[in-house]
Amino acid sequence: MSRSLKLYITGLVSVSVFALILTSFVFASRTDSDFVAGIRSSISIVEGSKAPIDLWLGIGFWTLLTLFAGALPVKMPRGSLVSVSMAPIIAAFSLGGPVAGGIVALVGSTEVRELRGRIPWYGTAANHAGLVLPAVVGGLITELLRGGSQEEWVVFVSTIVGAAAFYLLNTGATSLIVAMRSGQSFALVALGDFQGTYVNSLALAPLAWLMAQMYSVGWWASLLFALPLYTTRVAYNRFVEMRDMFTQTIGALAEAVDKRDPFTSKHSQNVKLIAVDIGREMRVSASELEALEWGGLLHDVGKIGVPDSVLLKSDRLTREERMQMNAHPVLGAQIIAPVTKLAPELPIIRHHHEWYNGSGYPDRLIGDEIPKLARILHVADAFEAMTAQRPYRMTPLTAEQALNELRKFAGIQFDPVVVDAFVRTPWVQGVSDPGRREEPRQIPLIGQAANRMTQATASRGIASGSASSSASADQA
Ligand SMILES: [Fe+2]
Ligand SMILES: [Fe+2]
Repeated sequence: MSRSLKLYITGLVSVSVFALILTSFVFASRTDSDFVAGIRSSISIVEGSKAPIDLWLGIGFWTLLTLFAGALPVKMPRGSLVSVSMAPIIAAFSLGGPVAGGIVALVGSTEVRELRGRIPWYGTAANHAGLVLPAVVGGLITELLRGGSQEEWVVFVSTIVGAAAFYLLNTGATSLIVAMRSGQSFALVALGDFQGTYVNSLALAPLAWLMAQMYSVGWWASLLFALPLYTTRVAYNRFVEMRDMFTQTIGALAEAVDKRDPFTSKHSQNVKLIAVDIGREMRVSASELEALEWGGLLHDVGKIGVPDSVLLKSDRLTREERMQMNAHPVLGAQIIAPVTKLAPELPIIRHHHEWYNGSGYPDRLIGDEIPKLARILHVADAFEAMTAQRPYRMTPLTAEQALNELRKFAGIQFDPVVVDAFVRTPWVQGVSDPGRREEPRQIPLIGQAANRMTQATASRGIASGSASSSASADQA
């Protein structure tokens, strides 16, 4: 575990404990008739009873519901666990105030895996604190807005606002931990994992309010809502399954394209990884990172329509063959166009061979006319192609040689800003970078392969950093 993650978890746990204790003291000193020992008597298992045993039985009831609701969490694609346990916690703080909500969250968030010792202590602490603090804050906001009112609409509105605060804090705390642990960006985890569930989660807030309302009829009446809670959980699961299936299908399609040529196996997968790393350095949005992931996998899907005689040719391509080869971005975009979910990836696929100076294809776009994500993918594609073995270049370029080429053709073939961002990624960490030197240096002869590439590209008037201009090299 990293030092920053340790610090964060320690801070989160300390703040949560402090918030729960402080709120207990403040509410315990309340003298209004509604509160007994800091807990609102509405949570009592027997309507109207203020006996401590009835209050604790009420808290026990909501804790049990939380335990059951949390027993079947759904693992989201980026690694967060989502469950429907927020509903009974919200109901608990709506009925019993922030202290009751905090206690229900503290005990109710216990997992079987914890009891079996499968989660390290810091994971356990973080999971509990990630629910206790939001429950206390959500409960406090609900209380403040409610201000002692018994009006139903006031209770409803205050519960919903408290639930929103609970949801935002819980999502934020959880996403930050997953992001720090996995090295993904916070926005990517928060938006990636929760954008498919927030509508369902928002629906849990009124459901929690309804459960709290029914509780005054009898504790058993709240159990009627176990079914909607279960169906919500099923909906989460379906969402994750569908998304996984989609990602796996795209991966399989990319693999099928790469497998046609033994020299390009894993090309799309590697291009995806490099493109995402550049995207992170350029601080693109979470949805753009996702587009880079899927666009990276699918950028060469149009090669399905390129005949083997052209795709696998190791000699120089004829003019006609080159035209067939260069049609793959347009073909790829046509293949993907009917998939509405992949609309953001279309410009990446169509324009990943455009050159910064306008001499690329298919539309000869110049500079910023080329979509940003396509400019990112172009650099990733070129670096991967140069550093991988090809039939026309059995010895791949080293990372340093490939970086030299990228620097050399920044502003010509590549967007210089993207190349600068690429230099900061782990792919070229510790590699000497000509772009950092003040004096331009004569680039040494870098082996037959690079020499061939430069010669071939020079014949077009513009040298190429990717293998794209050499004889049959546009197989990148
Ligand atoms: Fe391509
Ligand atoms: Fe490629």
